[in-house]
Order: sequence, then C-alpha cells, then structure tokens
Amino acid sequence: MASEPTTVTITGGGGQIGYALMFRIAAGDMLGPDRPVRLRLLEIPQGMRAAEGAALELQDCAFPLLREVDVTDDPLTAFNGTRIAMLVGARPRAAGMERGDLLAANAGIFGPQGKAIGAVADGDVRVVVVGNPANTNALVAAASAAPDIPADRFSALTRLDHNRAVGQLAEVLDVTPDEIADVVIWGNHSATQFPDVSHAILPDASSILDALAERLGGEAAAAAWLDDVFIPRVAGRGAEIIEVRGSSSVASAANAAIDHVRDEQLGSHRGMTSAAVVSRGEYGVPEGLVCSFPVTSRGDGHGYRVIEGLRFDDRARARFSASVDELVAERDAVRALGVL
Ligand code: NAD
Ligand code: LMR
Repeated sequence: MASEPTTVTITGGGGQIGYALMFRIAAGDMLGPDRPVRLRLLEIPQGMRAAEGAALELQDCAFPLLREVDVTDDPLTAFNGTRIAMLVGARPRAAGMERGDLLAANAGIFGPQGKAIGAVADGDVRVVVVGNPANTNALVAAASAAPDIPADRFSALTRLDHNRAVGQLAEVLDVTPDEIADVVIWGNHSATQFPDVSHAILPDASSILDALAERLGGEAAAAAWLDDVFIPRVAGRGAEIIEVRGSSSVASAANAAIDHVRDEQLGSHRGMTSAAVVSRGEYGVPEGLVCSFPVTSRGDGHGYRVIEGLRFDDRARARFSASVDELVAERDAVRALGVL
C-alpha cells in the first residue's frame, strides 16, 4: 500500500453533495483500494459545524485508507498542497430557476478559490467544478489560478448528464448500463446541452440507433423518441429531480463526480465518456471556454483528452452550437460582472 496520502479538498464540505462524496472517497471508491487519502473540507463559517460533524462521522467509520481530515474556512489552508480539488460549495438553484441564474451569486466564490489554488495547490493539481453554473465557474477558477496552474488542469462535471443519458437508454433498450458505450454530452451543463447517441454502441459494436429503431418500431419512431423524450428528459433531469425531490440531486451528483475523477486519474477504460474541459478550439468551440466534449483518459497523469473527428449532421451541429452560444453568453456575463 502506498504510504504517502493524496490530498483531496472538497469545498462545501458541510453541504449535501459534500456529505455524499466524502465517505465514498475515504472508502477508496475514487482513487482505488491502495491509495490513502487526506481529506480537507472547506466551508464558510456558517457551514463549519456541519462539516465538523461529518468529520467526526468519518473518524467513526475507521476507514483504513483515510489518514487525516481537516476542516477549515480558510481557502489557503484547504488547498495547501492539494492534488485533487472538488469545488462543490455554492448555492444550488431552487424550482423555477435555471442554473445560469446562479451566475452572479456563485461566480464570486470561484474567483478567490481559483486564486488560492494558484497560490498553494500542488503544481499538478486537478480541479473539478461541481457548483453551478459549473462550466463557467470552472472558467472563472481557471482564469484566477493563472499563470501558476495551467488552465487544462480545470474541468467541470457533465458526467452526471452522461450517466443520466446511459440510464435512459438502458431502460428503453432493456440492457444494463455497462452495455452502453460512447454516449456524448456536448456543450453546457444546462438545459441547452446536447446528449448525443449517434456514436453510441452495444458490446457487439452494433449501433444504439439501430437498436432503438428495432425496439421502437422503425427509424422515424426512434428519431421522434430521441427528439421528444430522450433529449429533453436528460437535459431537464436536474429540474425534474428538484420538482420531485424538493431539492437538487445529491447522491447521483456525488457519484458522477467520483466517476469523473476516477476515470481521469485511473483511466476511462470503456471508450469515451463526457467531461467539460478547456477548449483548445476543438470542433470550432472558442478557445478557453469550458465545454463538454467526448473525452478519454489513459490514467497516465495527463488528464482527459478530447476525442476529435466525430461527425455531426446539421441538426446535431445546430444543437451543439446553441449550447456553445450559451457558454459564450455566460462568459460575457461574468466579464461584465468584473469577475473575469
Ligand atoms: P448545499 O447547499 O447542500 O451545500 C453547499 C455548501 O457549500 C453549503 O454547506 C455552503 O455553506 C457551502 N459553501 C457556500 N459557499 C462556500 C464557499 N465560498 N466556500 C466553501 N463552501 C461554501 O448544496 P449541494 O446540494 O451540495 O450543491 C452544491 C452545488 O452543486 C450547487 O451549486 C448545485 O447546483 C451543484 N450541483 C451540480 C451538479 C452537476 O452535475 N454539476 C449536480 C448537482 C448539484
Ligand atoms: C443537476 O443537474 O441535478 C444539478 O446541476 C442541479 C440542478 O440545478 O439541476
């Protein structure tokens, strides 16, 4: 067993997603069964008691991999030497709001945190932003960490959307989720995202589109299901959870954040997955935007790599462009707020 623990910082350690994350990380679900961890929980003063209580419970689990838990309201302490930063702490939306409505409230959090990461984190830190609007918060954090930390170390979570898409397909095709590969979420973690199944395959490499046509009674029926049911359901799932549950997703969000970091660190073994990463101009997306793409990781320390060369038809291109336009508008809005 490696003896040097990996420092993982969770912001919002007293909140819902933080609580769902920390026990699984301490149990080895994220970094594997042979990598000890040191957890740092960052909170604002009002959230400190909840985070401290969670730390007591962590101790009571006696996890063999958990070496240390620190709770703090000081970002410089929380990010000191951190290798993996999971930026969760932010205000969640309520019913009737879009995630973009949180832009002003939450952008102010991610600038100072990015700055603190630039000042004290490990030079090879990886940062995933969960707090909404996640893509643009990641853009703000990356810009604030520059030039000390390269922007490509920052990403935002669209794995939840990806997993939601897989869950919907598995149900309609009556297969298990692990039989579905190469689904892609393009664009923003918002209602404009484009969940794309045109490259998705089953274990025998047959096309999901063909399987849907067979299952639903022809190509036209499959296309109608994708347009009228699947895409709105996946893109609107966050709002559906808020409506049914009364507050936003927690365990599924924490699970997706663990999937995101685990695949980035240890390798995404099954074809492509989805993550929002800093654009280098792939697929015509303006450089610097944090956009969801098809990605893969070899788990060799180089992080996620965008898979290039996938083809779009005109309708798919229009959907993706609308989501990229929204990312541009969000970037311009935070610029206007003076955060960027
Ligand atoms: P929550 O309100 O339960 O917890 C948020 C915690 O963050 C609170 O304890 C709060 O005190 C803390 N916090 C606020 N400002 C902070 C700061 N500056 N530094 C450190 N901590 C701070 O909310 P939650 O349900 O855990 O959700 C957190 C965020 O995650 C929300 O923005 C939500 O919209 C988002 N979310 C994203 C996804 C995704 O897929 N990207 C999924 C679900 C939720
Ligand atoms: C989600 O997708 O569940 C989260 O982003 C929470 C939300 O506001 O929808």
